[in-house]
Amino acid sequence: MEIRIVDDYREMSEKAAALVAEQLRDKNNSVLGLATGSTPEGMYKELVKMYRKSCLDFSTVTTFNLDEYVGLSNQHPQSYCAYMHKHFFDCVNIKPEKINLPSLSKNEADPAKVCRDYDRKIEQAGGIDLQILGIGVNGHIGFNEPAKNLPVGTYLVGLSAETIEANSRFFSSPEEVPRKAITMGVGSIMFAKRILLLASGKSKAPAIRDSFNGYVTTEVPASLLQLHHNSIVLIDKDAASLL
Ligand code: PGA
Repeated sequence: MEIRIVDDYREMSEKAAALVAEQLRDKNNSVLGLATGSTPEGMYKELVKMYRKSCLDFSTVTTFNLDEYVGLSNQHPQSYCAYMHKHFFDCVNIKPEKINLPSLSKNEADPAKVCRDYDRKIEQAGGIDLQILGIGVNGHIGFNEPAKNLPVGTYLVGLSAETIEANSRFFSSPEEVPRKAITMGVGSIMFAKRILLLASGKSKAPAIRDSFNGYVTTEVPASLLQLHHNSIVLIDKDAASLL
């Protein structure tokens, strides 16, 4: 694992987009693992800019998103599906049939099968070449919340109070934040050939400190990235301020 510290959010976003571009130049049919949240928004903006300048082509790229709320329709403005279409998919030439988002309805009869099928699809696509990650204030990656143990594959998860609180800024009240989500497991993430974790701002500094202090624990899920042979932690000075 390598930690790269940059000045600010803008530089983090530009460098993240440059790493994605490098990945696509090396392998134009790359499989990308994608994240949502406020952190990667700047990276998507940069990628869209590069696409518009004809520097990047997404027509042969396959994507798998990390996670999605349970109980929000795809059209709900706070669904991760809506986020991805708004910030990225609808702005570049990615083929709709190559877009994959985990999705679980509240009344799904067999959630375990939906999760297994998602992992199988990732495997059939050849695995993830580059996985983008944000990090929660509690050290979560995807929606892998701090816990005594964590599932390897995709699963249905109850969100922690901290995550509900952190995400309530996107909803009109904390009560509206869904309590459950479907998320790729830490195994699905760690099997990626390369991982790029992004973080910006002082609010992430404690999570960054606790994740990359030389110890590994599922109580701080991002700490597992220390075990990955090809992971980059690209963070700004504020996020790195407690390292
Ligand atoms: P954020 O979320 O980018 O909106 O801070 C990151 C996360 O919770 O993984």
